[in-house]
Amino acid sequence: GTAWKLADHPKLPERSSPSPVVVLDGWAEASPDKYNCIHVADTPTMDSLRNAHGTAVGLPTDDDMGNSEVGHNALGAGRIYAQGAKLVDLALASGKIYEDEGFNYIKESFANNTLHLIGLLSDGGVHSRLDQLQLLLKGASERGAKRIRVHVLTDGRDVVDGSSVGFAETLEKDLAELCGKGIDAQVASGGGRMYVTMDRYENDWEVVKRGWDAQVLGEAPHKFKSVVEGIKKLREAPNANDQYLPPFVIVDENGKPVGPIMDGDAVVTFNFRADRMTMLAQALEYEKFDKFDRVRFPKIRYAGMLQYDGELKLPSHYLVSPPLIERTSGEYLVNNGIRTFACSETVKFGHVTFFWNGNRSGYFNSELEEYVEIPSDSGITFNVQPKMKALEIGEKARDAILSRKFDQIRVNIPNGDMVGHTGDIEATIVACKAADEAVKMILDAIEQVGGIYVVTADHGNAEDMVKRNKKGEPLVGKDGKVQIQTSHTLQPVPVAVGGPGLRGGVKFRKDVPNGGLANVAATVMNLHGFVAPDDYETTLIEVVD
Ligand code: 3PG
Ligand code: CO
Repeated sequence: GTAWKLADHPKLPERSSPSPVVVLDGWAEASPDKYNCIHVADTPTMDSLRNAHGTAVGLPTDDDMGNSEVGHNALGAGRIYAQGAKLVDLALASGKIYEDEGFNYIKESFANNTLHLIGLLSDGGVHSRLDQLQLLLKGASERGAKRIRVHVLTDGRDVVDGSSVGFAETLEKDLAELCGKGIDAQVASGGGRMYVTMDRYENDWEVVKRGWDAQVLGEAPHKFKSVVEGIKKLREAPNANDQYLPPFVIVDENGKPVGPIMDGDAVVTFNFRADRMTMLAQALEYEKFDKFDRVRFPKIRYAGMLQYDGELKLPSHYLVSPPLIERTSGEYLVNNGIRTFACSETVKFGHVTFFWNGNRSGYFNSELEEYVEIPSDSGITFNVQPKMKALEIGEKARDAILSRKFDQIRVNIPNGDMVGHTGDIEATIVACKAADEAVKMILDAIEQVGGIYVVTADHGNAEDMVKRNKKGEPLVGKDGKVQIQTSHTLQPVPVAVGGPGLRGGVKFRKDVPNGGLANVAATVMNLHGFVAPDDYETTLIEVVD
């Protein structure tokens, strides 16, 4: 068994006053121009943190664009794990994916039934990757899949809006090649990721239902002969956007849907990232299910690209084993008596709970922990309500601090990211101001109780809303307009540590040149008065007397 007892820090006292860890989602540092919404917005609290005694240091991201999953995993786990994307790459490259249990389980259906592949059609690399889908199509067809149907979700969020057309063309070409080899392979349905299927943390089950109707029942408001034609048509609507395309099905010459999911079929959800696949996974796997009327519950062989929830063991079959993230900082701290409060609104709630705790839902010790979810607005795009629930999160955190019932208060403030993803610059500026105000509420409370704070971010987004050339100049599209960037960025994020409870002599170390998000866990353990386990990435602070 794990020895949970952490050694006492030689110089830092065990905290009896509260320490909040605030994660600003989608908030990094970039050149101050009009596409930097954090710069344009009035954000005095964060500005003061950034300038305060040089406490801000850049936390570089990994090679790929950072995202909330890897960000919060690293923040919570304190170590760097090979993540889903990498593990799938390795399994595909070595061919091991075809030897393991998950593939052999779905393969049973190949002889007489259809293989369905459902997922995000994108090369963003956050939830899925097109090249992995291409390899899987090839691998499955070489191993007996004779009838294949792909159910696509268009992106425009981790990649530029409009890029779905090109991805669909690539996929169509691949499927046509398979058809040339005598395999009946087509796209069967589609829809925009934010409107169809890829909801998260149970914000809006209607999103999953729309996908279910198209993918399983073969029913949708739009019917097309091909996916490329469909996406192009749907994009002609005013304000159409890849993220929000309505659901559609592909039909044959008689108007019949080409690929509803039937008894005996195999289904793979090919996203590797968990948060936006677990709702569909429940619908596909659970016999008992009351989130929406499935109408028909086909008896299928279902496997996820990964197992999405380690606690729920969901789904029970999967092609690639997920990173085994164990001994997270949250579990250590709770086992050392640290009373923990975690809070965000629905769309980011799982980030400070599920991702933070190594992709596990639930408490380690419900007597010492309280997780509070503030319901997000649903059925809207967040540029319509850019303040989101920032102030409510701030209030809950403030109350938790003032109650003195908790030692660690962990929050995610979603605005910079969620509104940044809409590409609406005006709204993102309002969003950043609201996030800043929430930070102020929390810092004011810490001031009152004499606590310590850590404020950081999981990755960038709102600080740069435009695509740029190598020189850093905004790129202009064919339509003469600047190309809006809806995705995350590669920019370094801030980290600030302070508060009246911080003992004198605590300084940022200068000898952690490649510091990153995984260094935050050991730092937070120190601030609670403990030394982090040996295999954790090193702390960012030292005590000089
Ligand atoms: C999303 O799922 O909203 C984006 O693809 C990534 O955003 P996140 O990593 O900030 O959640
Ligand atoms: Co994001």
